[in-house]
Parts: sequence; C-alpha cells; structure tokens
Amino acid sequence: MARKKIAMIGAGMIGGTLAHIAAREELGDVVMFDIFGGVAQGKALDMAEATTVFGSDVKLAGTEAYADIEGADVCIVTAGFPRKPGMSRDDLIGKNLGVMKQVAEGIKTYAPNAFVICITNPLDAMVWALQKFSGLPTNKVVGMAGVLDSARFAYFLSEKLGVSVKDIRAWTLGGHGDDMVPMVRYSTVGGLPLNVLVENGMLSQEDLDAMVVRTRKGGGEIVALLGNGSAYYAPAESAIAMAVSYLKDQKRVLPSAAYLSGEYGQNDMYVGVPVVIGANGVEKVVEFPMDASEKEMMEKSISAVNVLIEACKNLEPSLA
Ligand code: APR
Repeated sequence: MARKKIAMIGAGMIGGTLAHIAAREELGDVVMFDIFGGVAQGKALDMAEATTVFGSDVKLAGTEAYADIEGADVCIVTAGFPRKPGMSRDDLIGKNLGVMKQVAEGIKTYAPNAFVICITNPLDAMVWALQKFSGLPTNKVVGMAGVLDSARFAYFLSEKLGVSVKDIRAWTLGGHGDDMVPMVRYSTVGGLPLNVLVENGMLSQEDLDAMVVRTRKGGGEIVALLGNGSAYYAPAESAIAMAVSYLKDQKRVLPSAAYLSGEYGQNDMYVGVPVVIGANGVEKVVEFPMDASEKEMMEKSISAVNVLIEACKNLEPSLA
C-alpha cells in the first residue's frame, strides 16, 4: 500500500511542529507549503535529515507551489497570521480571510479528496470560509479548537488534583474564543464528573471556576508569555489526533469545529461540537443534552461565531 500523503499548508510554528510529529509518527510523506517557500524547504530538509536519526521512512518536502500537494490525503491549514500580545483572535479576520481564499483554491485544485483540518484563527469563521471557498464536502472540512481547549482544561485539572493526565477526560464546546463552553458535567476525573467532585468536597467550586476562566483565556496566556506569536505544541498535537482518527478510521469522538445542519439548532455554520471522526471524515455530530445554563452559554458562544461569519460575508461578498 502506498504511503499516505499529508500536506501542511503553512510552514510556520504550528506547521513545522505538525510536520515533525507526522514524520516521527510515520503517518505518511509530508509536504509543507508556504508562501515563503525557503522556510518550508529549510524545515523539510532539516527534518528529513533527522529521520535518519529517529529511523522514520517518510519523505519530507517544502514547496511554494500548490501543485506539490497533489493527491494529499490530509491537509492541515495553518497559513495566515497568529496573534500578537493584546490582540484577540477576531482581530485576525481581515488578513486571514484572504489567505483562506487562496488556500481553498489550492486544495480544491490539487487535493479535492483530502480531509482538511483548519487551525487558522479566528477558527470557527475561517473553517466556515474555507469550506465555502473550496466547495469541498462539509464532512471533509473541519476545524481544530475543541481538542486543544479541552486539553488545556484537562491539564489544569491534572495539575490541581494531582491525577494522571491519562485519567482525565475534559470537554470544551462552542466557539474558539473567550465565550467557549467548558462542559463541567461531562468532564471526568477517574470517571467522576467534575460537579460530583465538587459536591463531595474533592474539588472546590472556586478552584473549578478559576480553571474554567484560565481555559477560556488559555491561548492568550501563552501569547502573553511568548511575546511574539501563539501556542504551537498543543495545537499541533491536537490536529494530529484528529488526522490520525481519520487516517486510521479510529472513529474517535473529538470536540471539533464542525458544519451544522440542524444539530444544536444551528444551520450553515461551524462551531465546536463533539464529532465522530473516521474514514469518511466527520461521520456524526454528537448532541450532548444541555441544561438551561449550558444552553445559554452555548447560545452566547454561537452568537459570537455568527458575528464573525457575518463579518466574513461583509468582507467577501461572494460568501454571502
Ligand atoms: N499562503 C500560505 N502560507 C501563508 C500565507 C498564504 N497566503 N500567508 C501566510 N502564510 C504562512 C506564513 O508565511 C507563516 O509561515 O503561514 C505561516 C503561519 O505561521 P506562523 O506565523 O508561525 O503562525 P502559527 O503560530 O503557525 O499559527 C498559524 O494558526 O493558531 C492559529 O492563530 C494562529 O492563525 C494562526 C495560525
């Protein structure tokens, strides 16, 4: 069987990290595309040399020609601009919308059968625009944010409770912004939901509230520390988990920005919801039952995403 081909569209901090993990895990041959082709080629050569040390039989290439992504099985999109301190993800919309238009054209022309995972921010609006611009099937275009936000929540819980990261399952739904919705009732430590931990005195409500706030602002915390750019290790690992679920037909249930057609009462938009990812891409949207306060938070988050989608339509009338 021929090796899989994975194209990283954008060879910056996340794109380079993605390529490194994909090569190391022998997921397939890796092509890195960037408008600054020299950077993509330099990183690819550096990693290709490293494969002889970690013993991985994959090919790596860098390019500034979309033709080189031809036939890719998976495309992971990070092309665009990251946040600088003081910026919100939404501040990136004008610049990154134009980038999505170019990327969509490249993927549509050379890799129309790929499973496409978008990471570029503001995530929910950018993945929506990428699907519209490309016309690819909605089950094959998905956004990565929920796995990352949930990973941050899980890390804070493991640190606070002194429990292995392996025994924590956290869920964060909604848009990838400050209104995201950490799902306390469905997040578990050793199988126990967080509200049960609080009721039984194993976790204080104050500590839980503080972790929810820190999760919502988790990306900004790293932007402030880095001073020039945004997080890349955890975003890359999160997208790789989604790509592996597709490539290996694992059918994992992962929070992802997915296209909604009636689920959660929404139509023709993308927002973070639990989905099953398998060989057919997004195979199912899972509807978590929500109580009144969860619904209210989800609706607020969805409204924030819809404002960004409207802004995209104003900037790019072809999307309206
Ligand atoms: N086509 C292809 N690549 C592009 C284009 C374009 N039109 N415009 C910019 N790029 C490339 C840049 O040259 C750069 O190498 O995208 C890359 C982005 O990399 P970084 O600036 O290092 O950003 P990164 O940290 O990887 O984040 C990328 O993901 O999480 C989001 O907010 C983040 O939107 C940002 C994206």
